[in-house]
Amino acid sequence: MYRPSRNLVTLGEFIIERQADFPYAKGELSSLLSDISIAAKIVNREVNKAGLVNILGEAGTDNIQGESQKKLDVFANEQFLAALASGGECAGVASEENDDIILFDNHSTVNGKYVVCMDPLDGSSNIDVNVSVGTIFSIYRRKTKNGPATVEDFLQHGSDQVAAGYIVYGSSTMLVYTTGNGVNGFTLDPSIGEFCLSHPEMRIPKKGNIYSVNQGNFIHFPEGIKKYIKNCQADDKANNKPYTLRYIGSLVSDFHRNLIKGGIYIYPTTLNSPKGKLRLIYEANPMAMIAEQAGGKATDGYKDILEIKPLDIHQRVPLYVGSESMVNESMKFLHEFSDENMQPQYNAKSVN
Ligand code: AHG
Ligand code: MN
Ligand code: MN
Repeated sequence: MYRPSRNLVTLGEFIIERQADFPYAKGELSSLLSDISIAAKIVNREVNKAGLVNILGEAGTDNIQGESQKKLDVFANEQFLAALASGGECAGVASEENDDIILFDNHSTVNGKYVVCMDPLDGSSNIDVNVSVGTIFSIYRRKTKNGPATVEDFLQHGSDQVAAGYIVYGSSTMLVYTTGNGVNGFTLDPSIGEFCLSHPEMRIPKKGNIYSVNQGNFIHFPEGIKKYIKNCQADDKANNKPYTLRYIGSLVSDFHRNLIKGGIYIYPTTLNSPKGKLRLIYEANPMAMIAEQAGGKATDGYKDILEIKPLDIHQRVPLYVGSESMVNESMKFLHEFSDENMQPQYNAKSVN
């Protein structure tokens, strides 16, 4: 009998193997994930040659948050949109880089059963300096049944995500995703152009010793977070403190490291960003689903990220995500020492 001599599993093979995880989906979700992985390979190619061609620098346009867009943001956005539009399963996309939802309304996509939310290039301020960047995506079954998707299809609770993942364009390029049945990581083998299963069944350690926060904003943090950070720096051998501070400035990369090693990533409310900085549907929700599926936790400091009802596609949220016991401890400090009035409020007027 013939026995294959390789034990390599490609993302494509893995997706087909796991098709049974979502019998209702009849292959559409699998094909969406493949479309995303193809766009990821194209973006990876451009990220890797970013210094060689004239793709660096400002594109000269601002996104809705008033941040300057880099050319690679625009390129990545176009690649993911094109891949999803041509796949036929996706009725529309909400992207961090577009003011409004993009609806695919040609005959093959208008009745697509899914919508995708994405941050096509996360950590874009790191592009020019050769530091890892990423892509974050999140997939929902649409609520409306047919015809063009509506904004309500995108404003679903994070707990309604059917899949979420990210790609980190790092020292090697990895795609990590979940469909609600654990988290698996794939490393791109550039020699064969395939993502190969390298990190099966990823679990985040319950406790770690890395904290990731932009400590430059310390003076503007809530009192409880200042106290928590001081506690992370305590001389307390029994509890493995002082912790190590690691902050890359790309959520994807900071999250990925903490997922593997154990740690916490915090982007709290600050005086300058009273609603937090990160976006609920493009950044917090997908990372929260992955964290929970890997045995970790994600909150806004008070409630689970996945339980927040989004009111606007570009809504911001404070984020505490990572090893469960570390997230719990940070919340304990926040509750004990911060003004209850600082608790994030989610109502139509105050989301952005
Ligand atoms: P983006 O590049 O998509 O705008 O996201 C940047 C985000 C996130 O990736 C990162 O962790 C955070 O902004 C860093 O913010 P600070 O520079 O304020 O620390
Ligand atoms: Mn981002
Ligand atoms: Mn971005």
